[in-house]
Amino acid sequence: MDKMLFVGNWKSHKSKQEGELFFHELAGKIASINLAVQDIVIAPPFTFLDQASRLIAERKLPVTLCGQNVSSFPEGAYTGEINARQLKEVAEFVIVGHSERRRYLHESETDIENKVRESKEAGLTVIQCIQNEYDRVFSGTEIVAYEPPSAIGTGNVDTNENIEEVFAVVKKNNPHVRLMYGGSVAPTNIKALKEISNIGGFLIGGASLDVDSFLSLLN
Ligand code: PGA
Repeated sequence: MDKMLFVGNWKSHKSKQEGELFFHELAGKIASINLAVQDIVIAPPFTFLDQASRLIAERKLPVTLCGQNVSSFPEGAYTGEINARQLKEVAEFVIVGHSERRRYLHESETDIENKVRESKEAGLTVIQCIQNEYDRVFSGTEIVAYEPPSAIGTGNVDTNENIEEVFAVVKKNNPHVRLMYGGSVAPTNIKALKEISNIGGFLIGGASLDVDSFLSLLN
């Protein structure tokens, strides 16, 4: 069986110094985690990715890095964009189609489809976020994170029954994807969420910003 993935999505949080403190604290506490059954992935801001990849190598941390976004274009004249080949230098995973980007940055289905294709071509593993069972899952996506917007950052975690229903539809149409859940995952509800059938991991926002709360989700 695949290991359970715990993906910490820091969103637009933490300076480089705060990121470094997090990694040092993590290094001191990681021995308490059973990594035979679970994997740690962290998606920090772009500004910290390079430093994070050095810290991981230096301290031999069992942590894999993830981009929170990627350009929908290949390399070229696209001011401000970080393309998939550049991201692959510092990360193995990428989050595509997060509802905050759909909402605040007006990301379209075409943008998301292009991001998945670019990422796949560069060798990144795509975690594509969907908001409900009707959102399209694009070819090249290996992991689907179901994240109902009403559950993100609100404390209103979705019910296991709803999550299982969405998973069933996604799995029927995309038999090979791994399924994750995200939205108010916290130390108080993780035990129940782990009971969801077919659950392959969690995308964690707020609770991933603090080492103790993040690690308490894993144990
Ligand atoms: P949350 O965010 O855990 O703070 O609800 C999850 C996400 O948006 O990935």
